[in-house]
Amino acid sequence: MRVDIRPFGQSPAGEPADLITLTNERGESVSLTNYGGHIVSVMVRDRRGNLGEVCLGQDSAEDYARRDIGYMGGTIGRYGNRISGAAFTLNGEEYALYANDGRNTLHGGQEGFNRKLWAYEVAGNSVIMRYTSPDMEEGFPGELSVEVRFTFSEDAALRIDYLARTDKETHVNLTNHAYFNLGDSPDILGHTLWVDADRVIEVDGELIPTGILMSVAGTPYDLRQPQPLGKVMQREDNAMFTAAKGFDIGYVLNGGGMRQIARLHDPDSGRVMTVSTDQPGVQCYSGQGFNCGGRAGHHYCAYAGIALETQQHPDTLHQPSFGTTLLRPGQEYKTSTIYAFTAK
Ligand code: GAL
Repeated sequence: MRVDIRPFGQSPAGEPADLITLTNERGESVSLTNYGGHIVSVMVRDRRGNLGEVCLGQDSAEDYARRDIGYMGGTIGRYGNRISGAAFTLNGEEYALYANDGRNTLHGGQEGFNRKLWAYEVAGNSVIMRYTSPDMEEGFPGELSVEVRFTFSEDAALRIDYLARTDKETHVNLTNHAYFNLGDSPDILGHTLWVDADRVIEVDGELIPTGILMSVAGTPYDLRQPQPLGKVMQREDNAMFTAAKGFDIGYVLNGGGMRQIARLHDPDSGRVMTVSTDQPGVQCYSGQGFNCGGRAGHHYCAYAGIALETQQHPDTLHQPSFGTTLLRPGQEYKTSTIYAFTAK
C-alpha cells in the first residue's frame, strides 16, 4: 500500500488540512481529508480493468466547508440523522440542541463532526482520525473522544471502524455520508440496489419517525430483490416515497452482527459495491437534493450519487423501541462498516 499526503486547503478557522491517499498494488485508491473526516475519492476498477471514480467529492477543505454539498463524504456526529424537537432529556436534565432542519436537529447540529479538523496518523493501510468533542458542544453533554479508522485493502474494500468514549452519559450515533456512483453516468438511475430489510422506519412530513416499523411488502422501497433505481423512483404509489422524490428511507436491517446488508450494481461498468455492517439500520438517500459543484468542475445534479448511511435508527433517543444510543462513562461505542468493490 502506498501512502501519499498533500495539502488540501484550510478549514474556515484557517487550520491547514491534508489529503491522504492510500493506493493498493492494483492502483486502486481511497483519498481522505482530516477536515471533517471526509471520504474524498474512491478509485476502483471496472469489469474491463479501467480505473474510475465511484465517490462524489470536492477539491479542497474550503469546498467541504460549503453548506450546499449535502454532507458529501463527511464523518457525521455526534448524532447522525434526525433528533425531533432539537432537544432531549437525560437523567432529568433537558438538553437543547441547534435546530438546523426545520424544528429538528440533523447530522449533529450547526457544526457537526464533518466541519471539525481531525488529528490523524497513518498506520500501515489505515488512516486513524481522532477528534475530541468538548462537553456541551452542540448542546450534547460529556466530552466525547472519537476515533475513526479508515482501512483500504488490496482487494478494494474500505473498512470504517468507529470508537468513542465519554466522561458523562451522552447519546452517540456516528456514520459516514459518502455518495456513490459506480459508473460514468451523471446519475445513479441505471444502478440496481438490494437491501436486506423486511421493514422501514415510517416517518412523518418532517422525516421524523412515527415509531411504526412498516413492512416493505408491496411498496416501491422493497429492495429484497435487486431493483433498478430509476424505474422504482417513477412509482407514485406511496406517500412517503413520493414526498421524498426518491429514497430517503431508513431501513430496518434483517439479522444482527457483522453481515452483508446491501449491494449496489452498475450494469454498464459492471462495478458492484457491497455494504456490510453491524448496525441495525441504513439510511438510503438517493441524492435528490443535489445541485452543486464538485471536483474538477463537475456539476452534481439530482440523483448524482446514492448514500448508504449505516447507523442506529433516526431519533432513537426518543424511540426506546428502536434500541438505545446512550453511551456511559466506562463503555465503548464501537461499530464497523465495510464498502467492498468488485466488478463482473
Ligand atoms: C440524509 C437525510 C436527507 C438529507 C441528506 C442531506 O442523510 O436523510 O433527508 O438531509 O442527508 O442532504
